Amino acid sequence: MFICHVALQGCLTLRDVPYGLTADTGGHIKYLLELAETSAKDPAVERIDLVTRGFVDPKLGAQYEPDVGEMSGKLRLVRLDDGEASYLPKEELHERHDPLCDAFLAYLENLDRLPDLIHAHYADAGVLARSAKEMLGISYVFTGHSLGAVKRQANGGGDKELERRIAIEENALAKADAVIASSRDEAEAQYAHYRSIEAGRIRVIPPGCELDRFEGAAPSTKVQQDVERFLREPSKPIILAIARPVRKKNLLGLVEAYAGDPELQERANLVVVAGCRDKLSRLEPECREVCEELIRAVDAYDLYGKVAYPKSHDPDDIPAYYALARESGGVFVNPALNEPFGLTLLEAAAARLPVVATDSGGPNDIVERCKNGLLVCPRDPQAIAQACKDVISNRRIWIRYASAGGDAVAAYDWKAHCRIYHRLIEEIAKPRTSSGCFERLLVCDIDNTLLGDRDALREFLDWQCQNSSSTALGIATGRSFHSAQSILAAEAVPTPDVIISNVGAQVHWYDREKRRFVEDREWAKRVSRNWDRETVEQVAASLGLRTQAALEQRIGKASYFLDGHDPEKIANAFRDAEVAVEVVSSHGLYLDILASGIGKHAAVLHVADRLGMTQAQVVVAGDSGNDRAMLRACPRPIIVGNWSDGLGDDPALSHAYKASATHAAGILEGVQHYRDAGGW
Ligand code: GLC
Ligand code: MG
Repeated sequence: MFICHVALQGCLTLRDVPYGLTADTGGHIKYLLELAETSAKDPAVERIDLVTRGFVDPKLGAQYEPDVGEMSGKLRLVRLDDGEASYLPKEELHERHDPLCDAFLAYLENLDRLPDLIHAHYADAGVLARSAKEMLGISYVFTGHSLGAVKRQANGGGDKELERRIAIEENALAKADAVIASSRDEAEAQYAHYRSIEAGRIRVIPPGCELDRFEGAAPSTKVQQDVERFLREPSKPIILAIARPVRKKNLLGLVEAYAGDPELQERANLVVVAGCRDKLSRLEPECREVCEELIRAVDAYDLYGKVAYPKSHDPDDIPAYYALARESGGVFVNPALNEPFGLTLLEAAAARLPVVATDSGGPNDIVERCKNGLLVCPRDPQAIAQACKDVISNRRIWIRYASAGGDAVAAYDWKAHCRIYHRLIEEIAKPRTSSGCFERLLVCDIDNTLLGDRDALREFLDWQCQNSSSTALGIATGRSFHSAQSILAAEAVPTPDVIISNVGAQVHWYDREKRRFVEDREWAKRVSRNWDRETVEQVAASLGLRTQAALEQRIGKASYFLDGHDPEKIANAFRDAEVAVEVVSSHGLYLDILASGIGKHAAVLHVADRLGMTQAQVVVAGDSGNDRAMLRACPRPIIVGNWSDGLGDDPALSHAYKASATHAAGILEGVQHYRDAGGW
């Protein structure tokens, strides 16, 4: 495999990158180099070229000139000459697009062999990759790193420069074979602002994060003393927040949540590490205001002796803060109004400190993946306080969340990233095949059915691999499309032929020829025709249902927490209000309100229909409440041994095969049963 990365911005070098030397010498270079270095360790990778823009600038140093290359093992750095000598910040790169494209094509044409894949970082690099694809037919993937449309949303419109950047991004996205996103939020919410990219081409692959410092962290005397200056009873559990004092981090919301709950104050102290301040008046205006608001709130609610807000810290103190909170049996809280990624939550996880995190943005992925804490609505102070109490007052839950933090270290790791990334590249670069003509379809739920037992999964996948030309693999899950696709990729499940996501509200087909998922439009139309979110939300609000995160809400699916409600009563309430919906509950935890006639069952029938199959050609497997309708509706259902929500005792499922084996082993057992019985 020969991979060519293109990253035009900043001062890129293979060693000793001068981070911060220019505004563009930042995070994307770190990402690129860490990715490339790990990628190079895979024996399947023969060669990696990094292509950047050369420039002559005596102030920055002679090493960036076009004719200076660099080598390091399989890595080679190439600097393009676009005819303009000076260093250009990213805002000006667009002026050099044409000569940069020419220089890039010349570089490619001079190679002894063309790369198997081009990977473009940032919009301008995407323009070069696109022109190489158009001229030479080389496939490319794109990583945005930070998106103009997100900035526009935060700053408001009307910025010409930003509009230009967004247009360049659209141009780069339009022809990309795949787009790599770091989180579901990026894939599902941030890219939703772009016309030129659809869900089926976006892959969520978590990046590596350096968490070593946090894994082995221990409390330090210095940090302990810095905190104890503020606290009357310093031995109580610590509710810890670490964030810059800017409004969107919502630190005031956390102080107010704490202030509003005397029981929480009784049980725990609050420690807010909000940057460093010497004199408040010297801070930037927003930071100063936020700090003043925090201090004023402590005074107004008379929280003296219970809240610590240390004046300053060294970077080395941060791991010790997490460790101190852990030793106290506390919890880390990130209450941001929106958190695009959530690095602090990974740091807390690595330090084995449970978390309570905003349900808006990247934290969804972390908590969904690692189950190391709770998500809360950042605008709901009671929910924040309650979640903190839930975590710190139950020792068993606390220990479970604390140890689950180790999963974050494993998941946000470049080696794990590269395993998924290289499979994606192979998929994109391999010769095109057309989708087969299947004889049968196997549809599996993900959580606690396909996944949950890795050894069983390996065995199942061996079977699946041998049968993949005749048996289509379908997925039917409550997760969103990207959440499903990302966890399957992480568990090395080969790309399924069809993914039914959001409890049946969406269907995506994998097009083997184009190597991308394509949404089933016909299905989408049917779902939206039967959907009136506003009315559904009104009824749900009248019943006092607590909503799940914004990312869980879809056309055709409104999701809530069950919180002890009786699903039957909820279904009756919708009936009484004459709102036709499907009410589905799972694990005694989740409640999905789906568009009328929509669900995993209906979606499976639709999928079979489109494959030209009869129901007898379909086997479905599941474990819980959101599989019930699907298992009931299909003549050949498998209930895996670890079933819940009463599936195993359901009289309407007497026709199902009840496996004694659990998870994927249960699927395999059921498959064997139907094979032995003949006709499948
Ligand atoms: C998944 C979804 C959630 C849904 C649940 C049950 O966890 O993310 O929204 O409520 O499945 O279907
Ligand atoms: Mg399940």
